[in-house]
Amino acid sequence: MLFTQASFVLALATSAVAAAPIEKRWGGWGSWANHGGRPWWTPSASASYLEFGKRFPGADSNAPTCDLSQAVMPAAPTPLPAPASGLTLSHVAIGRGTQNYTCDLTNATAVPTATGAKATLFNVSCIAADTPDLLAKLPSIALDLPIPSSDDESSPAYQDMSGHHYFLDATTPFFNMDTTLHQYGTGRFKKSNGSNAPSDALLGTNNQGFGSVQWLKLDAKDSAGQVLQEVYRLNTAGGQPPKTCQGMPAAFEVQYSSEYWIWAQ
Ligand SMILES: *[C@@H]1O[C@H](CO)[C@@H](O)[C@H](O)[C@H]1NC(C)=O
Ligand SMILES: *[C@@H]1O[C@H](CO)[C@@H](O)[C@H](O)[C@H]1NC(C)=O
Ligand SMILES: *[C@@H]1O[C@H](CO)[C@@H](O)[C@H](O)[C@H]1NC(C)=O
Ligand SMILES: *[C@@H]1O[C@H](CO)[C@@H](O)[C@H](O)[C@H]1NC(C)=O
Repeated sequence: MLFTQASFVLALATSAVAAAPIEKRWGGWGSWANHGGRPWWTPSASASYLEFGKRFPGADSNAPTCDLSQAVMPAAPTPLPAPASGLTLSHVAIGRGTQNYTCDLTNATAVPTATGAKATLFNVSCIAADTPDLLAKLPSIALDLPIPSSDDESSPAYQDMSGHHYFLDATTPFFNMDTTLHQYGTGRFKKSNGSNAPSDALLGTNNQGFGSVQWLKLDAKDSAGQVLQEVYRLNTAGGQPPKTCQGMPAAFEVQYSSEYWIWAQ
């Protein structure tokens, strides 16, 4: 399948073109090659949409000059509590992955039970600070693209990966913001508040599915023991299970994407 991580990055970059002038770096955007008789675009490292984000504002500047104190979280349909005073916004990421569910197959009226999620996080801090309208579109765009294989340390996606999100148990979402490139810390969280996604949120991949998961506020499980204190899951795209377990297997995954706003001490 040609749809690799590169096309994830390219499609996001393409959608960003309208919003920002392209700066050439490392020799431009990429090249066309012939793959099995079909033209295939290979983006270069500079084609990552995240590269745009790093260089806002001003496409003639290479410096990551964005000011995260200028970034404003989108308001949830049912307002979520504000961050605790004294915290600062440390990072904004796009998460792309799956929500996990189980079904009790012995129960004819069972409904899916959420058992956790698994997502790769990509740094979009500067997009959040400088072009919030663009940021708001990224979860929907990312949902329609495959989960990038950012495990390859030589890939552009790896350079922009800021961490991983997964669950330690059914009620403990975990954020691991340490990679071989940087150490931004880890944190164990618990759900503190939630809002249904807006009524016009995506149903799922290709707008087929059962809706977008709630917008959430997560608080640290042990605030004294970790730097990362609060996490907001906002502008969700996809992730909801069917209303009943009819026809579902004992365990299944639903594709989703989201913004994660991470606040620290
Ligand atoms: C996110 O990207 C910005 C701009 O390049 C950088 O300054 C910041 O350290 C990055 N943060 C993380 C957590 O990767
Ligand atoms: C969620 O936050 C709102 C706004 O701060 C508050 O009114 C509501 O009581 C909270 N709900 C829960 C379950 O804590
Ligand atoms: C079957 O599922 C329904 C819906 O979740 C639940 O209310 C009921 O208690 C379950 N029955 C059993 C025997 O677990
Ligand atoms: C659920 O999530 C875990 C990672 O947390 C993953 O390893 C597993 O394959 C997922 N899917 C299912 C159907 O359990």
